[in-house]
Amino acid sequence: MLGERSGGFYVSQPVIAEAVATLVGDRVGGTVLDPFCGTGSFLWAVVDRAKQLDVPVEFVGYDVDQKVAEAAAAIGRQEPLLTTIEHANAYDVELPRARVVVTAPPLGLRLQAPHVLLNGNSTTDGEAAAVDLCLRALEPGGRAVFHLGTGFTFKQALDRYRQYLADEVRVAVLVGLPSGAFPGTTMRSILLVIDRAEPGETFLAQLGEDWEAQIDVEGAALLAAREHLDGGGPTIVGHA
Ligand SMILES: C[S@@+](CC[C@H](N)C(=O)[O-])C[C@H]1O[C@@H](n2cnc3c(N)ncnc32)[C@H](O)[C@@H]1O
Repeated sequence: MLGERSGGFYVSQPVIAEAVATLVGDRVGGTVLDPFCGTGSFLWAVVDRAKQLDVPVEFVGYDVDQKVAEAAAAIGRQEPLLTTIEHANAYDVELPRARVVVTAPPLGLRLQAPHVLLNGNSTTDGEAAAVDLCLRALEPGGRAVFHLGTGFTFKQALDRYRQYLADEVRVAVLVGLPSGAFPGTTMRSILLVIDRAEPGETFLAQLGEDWEAQIDVEGAALLAAREHLDGGGPTIVGHA
């Protein structure tokens, strides 16, 4: 796995987790799901928003690594909000319906058995399959925020699936990030927001060296993305 080490585990960078939670915006509520939760940094960032918005929320996470899942569960037990973390292979379990999905699936994973995508094509691309199973779990009106390798945007084998998504759901935000957002690798990445809603315009941005400032809670790129998503609305800065 790739990411920053913390207590022996890899975790997403805090600036990414905060940006993901900010892009969820005021959709927070119902079930918030991370099928590849690691130690849960995306979930805990959304927990902070839920506390401030004072809405009823249940948080559900899965991780295939037992120690990682146990670490996430231990953090979850300290939260006053309902959290359930399970040690499981997210590609094999039936995921709960969710109003919000936040996730950074494993990079570069090849599945042993092909996954049938929503458009009927099969793939062994772990990231594409992860996006697909998250969208299947998403309630109508729900929102999914992904941190993915940039390959999702250009792999030829995914052309028809990307077109399917553009035709069927709201691919609302696509922000390209340079090397560094996945520490320990030169791989570039994207923040992708998909609403289970009518198709519409996509907010597109490719960020450079100042990407961290741009996706900070008050960064220009994040504010513009939020404006496109929900017409702005209250941005909560800091922790409860
Ligand atoms: C990029 S990391 C996510 C990091 C997370 N956002 C965090 O900050 O802790 C991806 C996680 O997916 C987990 N994973 C890999 N394959 C999985 C699978 N088949 N089912 C569930 N989790 C899986 C890995 O153990 C890893 O913790």
